[in-house]
Amino acid sequence: MTREKPKNLWLSRWGFVLAATGSAVGLGNIWKFPYITGEYGGGAFVLMYLACILAIGIPVMMTEIAIGRRGRGSPIDAISRVVREGGGHPAWKAVGSMAMLAGFMILCFYVVVAGWAFAYTWKMLDGSLAASSVEGLAQVFEAHNANPWALGGWSVLVALLTLWIVGKGVQAGVERAFRWMMPGLAVMLLILVGYAFTSGGFDRGFAFLFSFDTSKLTGEALLAALGHAFFTLSLASGAILTYGSYIPDGQSIVRTSFMVAIIDTCVALLAGLAIFPIIFANGMDPSAGPGLIFMSLPLAFQQMPFGTAFGVLFFAMVSIAALTSAISMIEATVAYLNEKHGVSRTKAAIGSGAVLLTISLLAMLSFNVGADWKLFGTTLFDALDYLTSRWMMPLGGILMSLLAGYCLRAEIMRDELDLPPLGHALWLYMVRYVCPVLILMVFLHALGWLGF
Ligand code: PHE
Ligand code: NA
Repeated sequence: MTREKPKNLWLSRWGFVLAATGSAVGLGNIWKFPYITGEYGGGAFVLMYLACILAIGIPVMMTEIAIGRRGRGSPIDAISRVVREGGGHPAWKAVGSMAMLAGFMILCFYVVVAGWAFAYTWKMLDGSLAASSVEGLAQVFEAHNANPWALGGWSVLVALLTLWIVGKGVQAGVERAFRWMMPGLAVMLLILVGYAFTSGGFDRGFAFLFSFDTSKLTGEALLAALGHAFFTLSLASGAILTYGSYIPDGQSIVRTSFMVAIIDTCVALLAGLAIFPIIFANGMDPSAGPGLIFMSLPLAFQQMPFGTAFGVLFFAMVSIAALTSAISMIEATVAYLNEKHGVSRTKAAIGSGAVLLTISLLAMLSFNVGADWKLFGTTLFDALDYLTSRWMMPLGGILMSLLAGYCLRAEIMRDELDLPPLGHALWLYMVRYVCPVLILMVFLHALGWLGF
C-alpha cells in the first residue's frame, strides 16, 4: 500500500510548532484555567490538571499527530486511511466525525469569550474600565453582557475574522503572525506577574495555586481537570490532528508534542500567577466564574505606570491568541469539505460560518434575554462547554488511544513516533492502560457509578 502524498505542508521547520502552539495557547490558558482553578479551590485542581497533561494529554497528542501525518488529511479521512493501511474497522472514522463536531461546538461558545477580549481591548482605550474597584468592574462586565447588541457585535466580528482567515488558507497567516505574537504574550504575562508580585497578594496567590489541601482532591475536580487538559491542548477536536497532517516526514512528533504542551502549561501557570495575587490583594472572590479575568486585570492595569497602553496591548494579544485558536477549531471542517467534497475553502468557510453564527448568537443570548432557556439544565453556552470538555473530547481521547494501542499494526506508530525502544514502550503503556483506565474511571464517576 502506498502512503498518501501530502497536499499541504507547513512552509517552515517551525510551521507546525507555531500553528499548534497557536491553537493550544488561547482563552483556555488565560481565561478558563484561572476561572476554573478558582471555582475548584486552587492547588488540588492545579495538581490534577498537571497530572492529566503529563499522563494523558501528551501521549494522546503524540498519537493524534501521528495519525494525522500518517493519514494525511482531515480527521475522518486520515483515520480511514490509517485504518485501511494498518488494520482496524472502517467505523473508526466516526471518531474523526466526533472530533470535528467537538471543534465546531467549542467554536460556538469560544467566539463569545473571544468577543469579550476584543471588547475589552476597546474598553481599555475608551476609558470605560476606569472603575476603581473590582465591584465597579464587575458592573461593567455585567452591563456588557446584558446588552445583546454589544455582546453579539463583538462575537460576530470574531467569527467573521476567523472565517476570513480560514477561507484564505491557514499556513501563511498563522505561521507569520505567530513569530512575534507568542513571545509578546509571554513578555506581557511576565510583566503582569511582576505587577502581581508587588500587589501585596502574591503570597496568597502563590499558595492558592501551588499548595493543596487533600479535601479538595475530589472526583468532580478530577473530571474538570481531565476535561481541561483536553481543551487546553486542543485535543480530540480535529485541530491538532489536522495540523499534524501538514507536518513534513522526518520531523519529530515527540519533540514537538512536548514543546507545545510545555509552552501551553507555562502560559496557563503564568496567567494564574498574574491573576490570583491581584484577586486576593483586592479582597475578591476567586470563584467569581467566567468574568474573573475581566474584573481583576483591568484594575491592575489602572494602577500601573503606562497601564492603559499595557492594558490595550494585553487584551489585543489575548484577542489574537483567541483568534488563532478559533481558526484551528474550524480548520478540520473546512479541510474536510475541501478535500472530500471539492468545495473551495472560501465556500466551505461561508457555509460553516452560517451555522456557526446561528448557534453562537443563541449561545450569546445565554447572558441576557435567553438566560432562562435551558438545555440539560444549563444555558446553551455552558452546555456547549460541558458536553465537549467533559464528554466528547475525553471519549475521543480514549478511542484514539485504543485505536493506536491495540488495533493498528505496531510498525505504523513506531515509524511515526520514531522513539527509542524504552520511550516507545512507555508511550504504548500510556495509551494501552493509563489513558483508557483513567478516562474510563472519570466517566464512571461522572455517571455516578463509581464514587471517589
Ligand atoms: N486550546 C485552546 C485554548 O486553550 C482551545 C481549543 C480547543 C482550540 C479545541 C482548538 C480546539 O484556548
Ligand atoms: Na490552551
